[in-house]
Amino acid sequence: MFDLRDLYQQVIVDHSKSPRNFGQLDDCNHQADGYNPLCGDKLHIYLRINDENIIEDVSFEGEGCAISVASASLMTDALKGKSVSESQAIFEQFQHMATADLAEAPDEAVLGKLAVLAGVREFPSRIKCATLCWHTLQAAVKDSETPAKTE
Ligand code: FES
Repeated sequence: MFDLRDLYQQVIVDHSKSPRNFGQLDDCNHQADGYNPLCGDKLHIYLRINDENIIEDVSFEGEGCAISVASASLMTDALKGKSVSESQAIFEQFQHMATADLAEAPDEAVLGKLAVLAGVREFPSRIKCATLCWHTLQAAVKDSETPAKTE
């Protein structure tokens, strides 16, 4: 029988093994580091935001678990072409999805493919893995010199 969780799992494995938008963005105009104190994993986000506040390009570097890499890969794919305020709304939905009651379906209209990470809510320690890239993104938008933390 078709199992949506299997499909979600396949997407996560694909993005963790072949991360999209991985590497330095030479013409970025915003960047920041992020850090998960629980495991020590680090991420760096590069952003190019134009004068209309549109995210023209975004990439990431770093090492982390499969969930953190898949989440960063999916996030960067989802944000290209979005405005900074749209990215904030998606982040809020993502944060909500990651901590919502198990019975609550993710808002796929806002989240799109990011909904594959809804399963992390069953594993509290993995929520920070999935949100590390998003906290780092917030820091990059502000050009924060202090690394973003998941704690
Ligand atoms: Fe470090 Fe997931 S175990 S980010």
